[in-house]
Amino acid sequence: MDLSQRCSFSQPALLFFLCFFGLLSLSTFWYLSEKIPYQQWRITFKNAPSFPGMGPPSCLTATTTSSQSYYNTTTTSSRSSSKTMDSGIWTVKSDGRLGNQMGEYATLYALAKMNGHQAYICPAMHQYLSPIFRITLPVLHAEVDKKISWRNFGLHDWMSESYKHIKGKYVRLTGYPCSYTFYHHIRQEILQQFSFHDHIKEEANQYLQKLRGQCQEVTYVGVHVRRGDYVHVMPKIWKGVVADRGYLEKAMNYFREKYPNPIFVVTSNGMEWCKENINASRGDVYFSGDGRESSPGRDFALLAHCNHTIMTIGTFGFWAGYLAGGETVYLANYTLPDSPFLKVFKPSAAFLPEWIGIPADLSNLLFKHIDSCFRPHFAVRCRGWDITIF
Ligand SMILES: *[C@@H]1O[C@H](CO)[C@@H](O)[C@H](O)[C@H]1NC(C)=O
Ligand SMILES: *[C@@H]1O[C@H](CO)[C@@H](O)[C@H](O)[C@H]1NC(C)=O
Ligand SMILES: *[C@@H]1O[C@H](CO)[C@@H](O)[C@H](O)[C@H]1NC(C)=O
Ligand SMILES: *[C@@H]1O[C@H](CO)[C@@H](O)[C@H](O)[C@H]1NC(C)=O
Repeated sequence: MDLSQRCSFSQPALLFFLCFFGLLSLSTFWYLSEKIPYQQWRITFKNAPSFPGMGPPSCLTATTTSSQSYYNTTTTSSRSSSKTMDSGIWTVKSDGRLGNQMGEYATLYALAKMNGHQAYICPAMHQYLSPIFRITLPVLHAEVDKKISWRNFGLHDWMSESYKHIKGKYVRLTGYPCSYTFYHHIRQEILQQFSFHDHIKEEANQYLQKLRGQCQEVTYVGVHVRRGDYVHVMPKIWKGVVADRGYLEKAMNYFREKYPNPIFVVTSNGMEWCKENINASRGDVYFSGDGRESSPGRDFALLAHCNHTIMTIGTFGFWAGYLAGGETVYLANYTLPDSPFLKVFKPSAAFLPEWIGIPADLSNLLFKHIDSCFRPHFAVRCRGWDITIF
């Protein structure tokens, strides 16, 4: 009762103080914004083509620290700002799932750097990657994205000399690039970008330790078996196959012969098939992944924390092998030589030279009448190696 009385009594005074503090904090903000690194936004903004009616602070969201370490950690902040000023905005179209997003990110990172431009990612890509990895590229605000008249630049999935000289300050890379040929020369930086958050790292390591039990010297081999849409798309559209039990057996035997106590950690989006087709009677196989494509981070982290990798096809398995950094066994030559897949996919640009290819068994394809219901008017698009039919 007293309280309400007091409040109504002091209303004018309260109003006065509110105004006073409001002004005070505004002027503090103005003062600070002169000192603290909003320069970078403003400069980028000034040089951007046209953002009618937009104030600088809403221009770019502030993951600002990254651009400095991205270019050169030793320069002062004002220097790096003026570098940003001249370097425009490069970005990449966000498409596909985890493996594709990683490929797009790494390619943008490398090509922007190579061409001397500042790279930004769109919010969708940030949402995909930042819960898993400690990525540092700044995020482009959706409003800014809309107002820039981008130069779209389509990439095929291997590095070309001409990609070192891409013209334009406001370039959006498109396509489904994933090839290591774009970024292998800065591998350490890419691995840094894709380093896991601590809680993910800990969860993966704890899980792997449990599998080890009392055994001291074990070798973890992550096995990724891509199934799902590929099972139909590979034979129907691309004159190709997915990994079969024979391939997986050979790949696993390679590691069984080479290392004393291998532990195979299998993840897949077709775990039922795996349980029926991978011989687990030796007791060294663990079906571990949850196969959820909507939140693939956990499966991915498990694979990446293993010592070696068995991949089948797809960019997810590629990245698991690239990050694990041990020996990687892959399914090789899994299409017929006249497959249209080979027009968009170069095996030599997809698999590192030191990786170990085991050729696929194409006999089913060769003897089976190619499905006559395939009609060329199906619009087919290739997501790196992750294929979608519309
Ligand atoms: C960073 O800047 C320093 C000093 O200007 C220079 O010596 C070094 O080569 C630069 N590094 C890169 C990666 O540009
Ligand atoms: C599974 O492997 C064991 C050897 O550990 C072998 O004896 C058995 O025949 C295999 N089963 C199948 C179905 O291949
Ligand atoms: C194998 O992987 C485990 C789990 O990530 C790690 O603790 C261990 O050091 C690795 N072993 C080798 C030889 O790299
Ligand atoms: C795949 O096919 C090419 C061309 O026939 C051949 O040179 C290569 O050795 C094959 N790769 C594997 C791993 O068998």
